[in-house]
Amino acid sequence: MKNNHQKAPLYEALTAYGLKANAVPFDVPGHKFGKAIPTQFKDDVGEAIFKLDVNSMKELDSLSNPTGVIKEAESLAADLFCADHAFFLVNGSTSGVQKMILSTCSDGDKIILPRNIHKSAFNAIILSGAHPIYIDPVIDETSGVSMGVRTNDIKQAIDSHPDAKAIFILHPTYFGYTSDLKAIIDYAHQKDIAVLADQSHGSHFSLHPDFPTSAIALGADMATISMHKTGGSLTQSSILLHNNGIVPFSRVRSTINIFQTSSASYLLLASLDIARKQLALEGKDRFERLLNLVKLAAKKLNKLKGIDVLGSDHLDGDAMHSFDPTKLTINMSAFGMSGFKVYDYFKTHYNIQLELGETHVVLAVVSLGDDETSLNTLVEAFTDFSKTHKLSDKDAVKSVQLQTPEMVYTPRHAFFKPSMLIDLNKSVGMISADSIMVYPPGIPLVVPGEKITERIIKDYEYLNRENNILIGAHHKDDDIYIKVLKP
Ligand SMILES: Cc1ncc(COP(=O)(O)O)c(C=O)c1O
Repeated sequence: MKNNHQKAPLYEALTAYGLKANAVPFDVPGHKFGKAIPTQFKDDVGEAIFKLDVNSMKELDSLSNPTGVIKEAESLAADLFCADHAFFLVNGSTSGVQKMILSTCSDGDKIILPRNIHKSAFNAIILSGAHPIYIDPVIDETSGVSMGVRTNDIKQAIDSHPDAKAIFILHPTYFGYTSDLKAIIDYAHQKDIAVLADQSHGSHFSLHPDFPTSAIALGADMATISMHKTGGSLTQSSILLHNNGIVPFSRVRSTINIFQTSSASYLLLASLDIARKQLALEGKDRFERLLNLVKLAAKKLNKLKGIDVLGSDHLDGDAMHSFDPTKLTINMSAFGMSGFKVYDYFKTHYNIQLELGETHVVLAVVSLGDDETSLNTLVEAFTDFSKTHKLSDKDAVKSVQLQTPEMVYTPRHAFFKPSMLIDLNKSVGMISADSIMVYPPGIPLVVPGEKITERIIKDYEYLNRENNILIGAHHKDDDIYIKVLKP
C-alpha cells in the first residue's frame, strides 16, 4: 500500500453534507433528508440513514466522471487491491461481470469460460453477442461440487480458438477453490487474450497471505470483487478493478457509463469507501484471528460423525490450485439427506441461515462479521444434527451434475428469436429460450440457444421436489412450462 488509508474521503464528505451542513434541498431525492419517508420506516430504522441518501452534486462528485471525492476514494481502493484503477459499482458484481465482458467482447467475439459461472456472465453474453466456448470444470467426485478448470483445458481452448478475445475465470468458485490463474494468465497474455476474473467471493483475498492471491495481483486484466459479500460494505456495492494493458481504460469507462444508473446511491458508495478503510487498517489482524477460528471450527466439524468439510486436502496444483478456508463446504450425504434438505433443516431447527445447499453439501460463508460465538453456534448445531441423525445410504442422495447442453444458437441469437411456452415434459429436443437455474448459486441447467435433454427435465423436477428457489420456468398449479424457440 502506497497511500494513507486513514482517510475515507467520500464517506467523510457525505457525512459532512448529510449530517452537518444543514443545506436546504431543492434537488432530488424528493424525500429531502427523510422528511417524506413514511414514519413507520423511520421509526423502525432511525432517521440518520435518510440524511445520507442524497444525490450527486459538486462536493460529492459524480460516479460517471469522477474528479473529486469519488475519484480519491476509488484511487485508495485501487491502491489497497493492487490495481491500476478501481471503479465503484452500485448494481452488485452482476454489473461488474457484465461490464468486464462488454469491455472486451463485441458481437460474435469468442470468450472462453467455465460452465459453472454465475447467471450474470451468461446474461453478459446475451448483451454482448459474444460466442461462448465452454470448458467443463473439474467435479469433485465425493461431494459433486464443481471446482476450477484444468490449465491444459484452457490452453487447448486457446490453441483451438486463438482469436478469442477474453477468458473469464471464477476466482474463486462458490466453494472457495481457485484454478491456476497465474498459469492461465501467462498463456492467455502470450496470445493477447484478456483475462477477466470473477472474484465476487474473494474481495478479502488481498488482505491476508493465507488466502489465495488476488486475480489482479496475479496480472488479470480485470476483476470484480463483491465487497458486499465479504468486504464489509452494503449489499449491492461492489468494485471493478482494472490493470492497464490489453483492455483500454477508456473502453471500460464508456462501458460502465452505458449501464450505470445516473442516481447511484451514496449510501452504497460511501459504504465502499469506509469498508476499504477498515480493511486497510484492520483487515490483516482481523483476518488472522478469523482464520484461526474458522480452521478450528472446520477441525471440530470434521470430527463429527457423518460430516466432512472440504478443505485444502483437495488441492491438486491445477483445477484446485488454492483454497479459501472461510468457505465451509460441508458434505452431509452420509445421512442420506440432500444438501437442499439440510439447508432447510438448519433454518427451521437451529435458525441458522446457510448460504446455499447443493445436492451433497451445504455452504456456510464465514466473514469479518463472525466471531467465536457465531462459529460455536454453527458447530453446536452440526454437533446436534450429527448426534440426532442416523447414518444412511449416501447413494440415496441423487446427483445433479453440471452439464453443457448442445448449443444450437448463441445465447443472444436465441434470446431475440420468437418463443413460446410449452409443457416441460414435452420439451425434449427443443431449444431453450430462457435460462433455468436454482438460486442460489445461479448456475443455469440450460441457457438460451441450448437443446433441452431428458436429463435437464429430470434434474429440474428433482430440484423442484427438493423445494429449491428455481428461476426461469413457469409453474401453474401442478404443471411446469418452459419457454422454447418456436420451431
Ligand atoms: C460467482 C458470482 N459472480 C457474480 C455474482 C453476482 O454478484 P451480485 O449479487 O453482487 O450481483 C454472484 C452472486 O452471487 C456470484 O456468486
